[in-house]
Amino acid sequence: MAAKKAVLMCRAWPCPTLKKSETSMTSKELPDNLHRDTLALRVAIDPSQYGENSEALYLTSGFLQPDAETAARRFAGTEDGYTYGRTSNPTVTSFERRLAAMEGTEAAIGASTGMGAILMMCMGLLKSGDHVVCSRSMFGSTINLIGREFGKFGVETSFVSQTDVAEWKAALRPTTKLLFAETPTNPLTEVCDIAALAGLAHGVGALLVVDNCFCSPALQRPVELGADLIIHSGTKYLDGQGRVMAGAICGPSKIIVDVFGPVVRTAGMTLAPFNAWVVLKGLETLGIRMQAQSANALAVAQWLETQPAVARVYYPGLASHPQHDLAMRQQSGVGGPVLSFELKGDTADVAKANAFHVINSTRVCSIATNLGDTKTIICHPGTTSHGRLSEVQRLAAGISQGLVRLAVGLDHVEDIKADLRRGLDTLT
Ligand SMILES: Cc1ncc(COP(=O)(O)O)c(C=O)c1O
Repeated sequence: MAAKKAVLMCRAWPCPTLKKSETSMTSKELPDNLHRDTLALRVAIDPSQYGENSEALYLTSGFLQPDAETAARRFAGTEDGYTYGRTSNPTVTSFERRLAAMEGTEAAIGASTGMGAILMMCMGLLKSGDHVVCSRSMFGSTINLIGREFGKFGVETSFVSQTDVAEWKAALRPTTKLLFAETPTNPLTEVCDIAALAGLAHGVGALLVVDNCFCSPALQRPVELGADLIIHSGTKYLDGQGRVMAGAICGPSKIIVDVFGPVVRTAGMTLAPFNAWVVLKGLETLGIRMQAQSANALAVAQWLETQPAVARVYYPGLASHPQHDLAMRQQSGVGGPVLSFELKGDTADVAKANAFHVINSTRVCSIATNLGDTKTIICHPGTTSHGRLSEVQRLAAGISQGLVRLAVGLDHVEDIKADLRRGLDTLT
């Protein structure tokens, strides 16, 4: 009886068969020069015939074609139109258009994860005999993907200091195709000079790729400083709430569409529509989250610097950070949400035990290896995110056993300090 009533009520609602042409719910043409916070809310809204104000989620693996001729043209790429979910999807397109608008690039392409985006970039731009110059402080999986996996296919990589531009210059070869940096780095927050590296890359006909995961376009726009391609792990601040895996590359259409489009279509590191929708909605609050989390991070970093058990704090927002001035210029005057700190200890084993004690004493912070969440996350990079690097690689990257990384979230700053104090005050 109840089910029958529900069906009748449904029938009573108007509009179930509206066609798009019968509504005025199409996208408005946005004015020029909107601020980034507004772009984050307004770009790439293409309501269906029902005129929804929140972006639609198109969960479908395939798309109906009006006739065989149209299908043939779309599959041949001579006519625009969605065909198959591995190639593209309207929800993914909305995310790509909005992220590109926020980064200030012509185009963007989604990927299943941040590493999927880096894989797509390497597959699209590198071949045997090519050379890459890469910061040795990059995320561990990036180092392994480029150095080890692509090394198997004859791509050579020189790993250089994140901060010493002269080392980057000395590493250049006639075969250099890419310079690849992440700024600030994970976990030591070292900052590289994007404009200087762009000048070096362009001088030898190479591209500068910047992983903008730690700052996001809310704080840093590498293309404005000369970078050619921007990598994102959407898993981090773009989503910002620890819900889904996602990745993206932003850049000029001739590379994004012509080079990476065919790679994603054939290799299949496609961004899932549901994940694209979650990250698209995450972009709406990106600006305000990055400001608030960075303010919390600065307060925690300043406080940690006063703690007797702490040997050193790594945070670009601190005046003590070696690239503080550069970071303030590149990052909209903000240090970002991630910091690391080193516990004192006479030996590596003691320092590691101290780091584990501080981590294990927390009752609020999440012990996890992700970052980019509204929840503050604490981890020991030496045995987690960078645990698969060899001891030599790890030490070259400056990651000691006493190092703890804190990705500061929206927890109240006094609660974060109290949580860290629990371990810091009880070290033996
Ligand atoms: C700087 C940086 N780039 C890329 C990645 C890879 O992203 P994903 O985990 O989405 O593959 C990570 C992951 O932690 C990262 O920290």
